[in-house]
Amino acid sequence: MHVVTVCVGSACHLKGSHSIINYFKQAIKDAGLEGDVELKGTFCMDKCTDGANLLIDEELFHANSTDEAREIFEREILQKR
Ligand code: FES
Repeated sequence: MHVVTVCVGSACHLKGSHSIINYFKQAIKDAGLEGDVELKGTFCMDKCTDGANLLIDEELFHANSTDEAREIFEREILQKR
């Protein structure tokens, strides 16, 4: 079980975290991983300048577009199954 936590604080929201959450929702569904990957939101993680921030389990990633979120999802979730 993986937990993907996307920051929905105002700085990350401006950098596209809402689209990134929607991307993850769809990607988890498309991969049939609804029972294996939990998607959550969190408020500011005090890393606002780094980009739209997200955690996969305890590891921090930055995604400034849904393309970057896709790369992270493929690398960190799909390839590590
Ligand atoms: S708003 Fe996301 S880290 Fe601050």
